[in-house]
Amino acid sequence: MQIKQNYSLEPHNTFHLPVKTRWFMEYDSEDDLKKILRDEYFQECLSTHIGAGSNLLFLNDYNGIVLHSRIRGMEVVAEDEASVVLRVGAGEVWDEVVAYAVERGWHGIENLSLIPGEAGAAAVQNIGAYGVELKDVLVSVEAYNQLTFEKKIFPVEDCGYGYRESRFKDPHQDPQIITQVNLRLSKRPAFTLDYGQLGERVGAEPTLRAVRDAVIAIRREKLPDPAVLGNAGSFFKNPMVDAGDALRLRERYPEMPVYPAADGKVKIPAAWLIEQCGFKGKRHGDVGVYDKQALVLVNYGGATGDEIALVAESIRTAVNEHFGIELMPEVKYIV
Ligand code: EPU
Repeated sequence: MQIKQNYSLEPHNTFHLPVKTRWFMEYDSEDDLKKILRDEYFQECLSTHIGAGSNLLFLNDYNGIVLHSRIRGMEVVAEDEASVVLRVGAGEVWDEVVAYAVERGWHGIENLSLIPGEAGAAAVQNIGAYGVELKDVLVSVEAYNQLTFEKKIFPVEDCGYGYRESRFKDPHQDPQIITQVNLRLSKRPAFTLDYGQLGERVGAEPTLRAVRDAVIAIRREKLPDPAVLGNAGSFFKNPMVDAGDALRLRERYPEMPVYPAADGKVKIPAAWLIEQCGFKGKRHGDVGVYDKQALVLVNYGGATGDEIALVAESIRTAVNEHFGIELMPEVKYIV
């Protein structure tokens, strides 16, 4: 276990904000995590758990304890003719998990290639891209209850998954700290290629490697590399509206893209709404709206969390005034 005081989180958030935390605790095992959870000082302090910090916006220095898991490991815990169940430590880098599966010929997560972050946070967030969400392959999530210290295995149906939603984000549930995720991966070819240009890029005879390469190429074309330009991917969620509202909006804006979603709702790309309001490629001080993807806010270097939040607020206001649609941040604000 490593404990650091007054520690810079700059390498731990992909906006590269130079904020500090009063305490930073990294644990390597479940035993160490249990020690931390039972510690009285920990229980009295404000605390938050991070992964790779690729979906976070720190508004200030953090006056509490930031926890980070270094529980690693990828292990096949069940196998039959058709599939394997891969148990993955929460601290594994997500894209390394995808690479591991693709190398072994296991299908299911190749569309989630190059998503920044770690496996535990992927299960909190229900990461998704190119027609696949993590919940589609999750068998279960192993986690410690932060209040009772009990470990529980949550089958996927108990995880409350929805679009970028889960019980692990729900403030009405006991806080849980994820230690492992269990993924069912298929040994038999099963591809999801109907999102955007993915199918076209991959061609008529898809392979796992080709799908992974195509997803990586598309992401590199559209999304800024956080190692080069600070960002946290999509800043807002794509809003869901009722079918009737979507029809009315389409009458006014016939070119507006719409996608059918669950429960009869319609998904409207937030990037389109933001672009229509004139923000795409614009810069406000050190904060920018990425010129190839209007849903991504970038830190050109030197921006503060507050400045990024202000730009986000002006985008929200403009989209609401123009379209009557309220954008909700996908990025988690930490105060
Ligand atoms: N569009 C615009 N302007 C833009 C960009 C996009 O009008 O600047 C419109 C186009 O009509 C395009 C549509 O928006 O067809 C969708 O764009 P894109 O395929 O780039 O996807 P997205 O809806 O903006 C979502 C996820 C991404 C994920 C991609 C691909 C959310 C919030 N974001 O973005 O996830 O990579 O789909 O599946 O759902 C992330 O969560 O951080 C993330 C990057």
